[in-house]
Amino acid sequence: METEVLQVISPDGTINEAAVKKAASRLLNGEVVAIPTETVYGLAANAFDESAVAKIFSAKGRPQDNPLIVHIAAIDELAQLVTDVPESAKRLAKAFWPGPLTMILPRSDRVPAGVSAGLPTVAVRMPVHPAAAAVIRAAGVPLAAPSANLSGSPSPTNAAYVLADMRGRIPLILDGGACKVGVESTVVSLTGDVPRVLRPGGVTVEQLRGALGEVEVDDAVLHKLKDGAVAASPGMKYKHYAPRADITILRGTFEQFCDYVAGKDATVLCFQGEESHFPHAVTYGKAHDGASQAARLFDALRELDEHGAATVYARCPELDGMGLAVYNRLIRAAGFHLIDLDHTEK
Ligand code: TXA
Ligand code: MG
Repeated sequence: METEVLQVISPDGTINEAAVKKAASRLLNGEVVAIPTETVYGLAANAFDESAVAKIFSAKGRPQDNPLIVHIAAIDELAQLVTDVPESAKRLAKAFWPGPLTMILPRSDRVPAGVSAGLPTVAVRMPVHPAAAAVIRAAGVPLAAPSANLSGSPSPTNAAYVLADMRGRIPLILDGGACKVGVESTVVSLTGDVPRVLRPGGVTVEQLRGALGEVEVDDAVLHKLKDGAVAASPGMKYKHYAPRADITILRGTFEQFCDYVAGKDATVLCFQGEESHFPHAVTYGKAHDGASQAARLFDALRELDEHGAATVYARCPELDGMGLAVYNRLIRAAGFHLIDLDHTEK
């Protein structure tokens, strides 16, 4: 299959309507199209078309038990997807939609079970990216879309990375440039008594607490699931975001980090401005700035592979604000391998 790439944002910043129209007609024809969103690129299909949704799973090589997010362009599209819109969902929609927030709610019969991998719930998000919104509107149906990477690779934050993974597997990629947020949306479940964050992302836990009060963070956000444990968010159990390189996160000061890596034949994943201290370094944003780290992290993971890095030592992000989302991705990319330099014998 030929994979066509179309610019969806014109040089003057306006939406290329012809590209949007083409994407919409492919989607209504039961095909899969990659679209930009503010978080990462998505691999979209008509959420009401079970066989189109099945094509997403095969294009990605995605395990059948990992559910998809349904993307909408307006709040009035929510009611058909869910059986209940609790007060908490209304509040979050008002505060953070359109934007990088996904809500888990009870699934209506209108949504094919395959979208949610058979779960009684459905994940819904309203992206703020103008091209994503335009495609959803033009198609006139909600779009089921996971991140547009091959299962297990870092999520793609530009069209070239989508093409690298999806060439020959899908007919069309809309190129909307680099994604601003750079990590996926925050996933929050609203099906229990207390809202629970299943995946941290572009909306921070602090922001959610500001809107809702009490919010729990699922154990799987920071820790590896114990063998046999059931994941609240199936995506959290898979090896994810993994470059070929073997990554170890080193928690501690920059000085401790330098001491630890000195003399080792390794590539360093560090913050901007630190790279001159090492012979082989890739940077991922600024220290103490989770948003800038998020915007760079997945590109940096792909660059490590492009550099052929075998052993990588990574600086540790902070765990508040956007840093939590960055840490959540990096610890998975590192296979949960973390060394605390404050507690290491020298
Ligand atoms: O920013 C994003 O969320 C991007 C863009 C394209 O919108 N999409 C994305 O999709 O990251 P994906 O499929 O890569 O991640 C969806 C996550 C997975 O961890 C999945 O297990 C979880 O959401 N999820 C989806 N539906 C769920 C459900 N009903 N219950 C629990 N977790 C769910
Ligand atoms: Mg993904």
